[in-house]
Amino acid sequence: MAREKVTLPVLYEKMRKGQKITMLTCYDYPTALLQEKAGVDIILVGDSLGMTVLGYESTLPVTMDVMIPHAQAVRRGAPGAFLIGDMPYMSYQISVEEAVRNAGRFMQEAGCDAVKLEGGSNVAGVIRALTQATIPVMGHLGLTPQSIAMLGGFKSQGRSAEAAKKVIDDARLLEESGAVAILLEAIPPEVGKIITERAGVPIISIGAGPHCHGQLLIAHDMLGFFDRFTPKFVKKYANVNEVMLKAFQEYINDVETGAFPEEGHNYTMKAGEFERLKAIL
Ligand code: KIV
Repeated sequence: MAREKVTLPVLYEKMRKGQKITMLTCYDYPTALLQEKAGVDIILVGDSLGMTVLGYESTLPVTMDVMIPHAQAVRRGAPGAFLIGDMPYMSYQISVEEAVRNAGRFMQEAGCDAVKLEGGSNVAGVIRALTQATIPVMGHLGLTPQSIAMLGGFKSQGRSAEAAKKVIDDARLLEESGAVAILLEAIPPEVGKIITERAGVPIISIGAGPHCHGQLLIAHDMLGFFDRFTPKFVKKYANVNEVMLKAFQEYINDVETGAFPEEGHNYTMKAGEFERLKAIL
């Protein structure tokens, strides 16, 4: 039976009641089916797919045209989850008009419930414009992977008093600009706690400690399906790599030794047809 659709009011109600909000990344239909079945609240079609699925060194090569088919596939698999499309690099930095057009594509073409974009005061105007265009926005502060050139790599943020104050001020500004939720990545838990206590919108943590209203993990990290590097905040719930590698190795061995295919994998001819075939030949 289909579950009740997760909407913004549902998420705000969970926040008010102190119930934790769950969030995972997802990029494809079969994984979306499973996440929907498991009952996750929010699914993020993250531009992290550039690294986890497409094998790039960063998220920067990902474009809107890459993101949209993934968001569509996830929506088909998870009709009930609150679906967020991640605005890729240069889809919202060039102009407010382009940002609205691109965010609109996630809503119109993929059936997303909201979009996410990275940044603080530099994106406040974009968030205001998207909100005015009736597009809900999740902000993203702390380690913002699209800014690795400025940050000097994938490094935790907000670890000095001044840097922490900047993240806290930015969170306030994003909320004032209309952000309906804020994601905090790779900052100390004390900073996550202050922001959460002061916020009027759900604060989701990916490496921002246990005090936030909810938690996000990248599915490929928590499944053990992407091991090029594993951030400190990841908890591994499975070792999918090991399971898949074993299956691939067993299959190769079976084919090479003749153990596959077995009798049950074959199609049978209708009675008498093989004799007729031999006669024709
Ligand atoms: O693209 C993504 O999956 C993200 C997470 C790293 C937060 O933005």
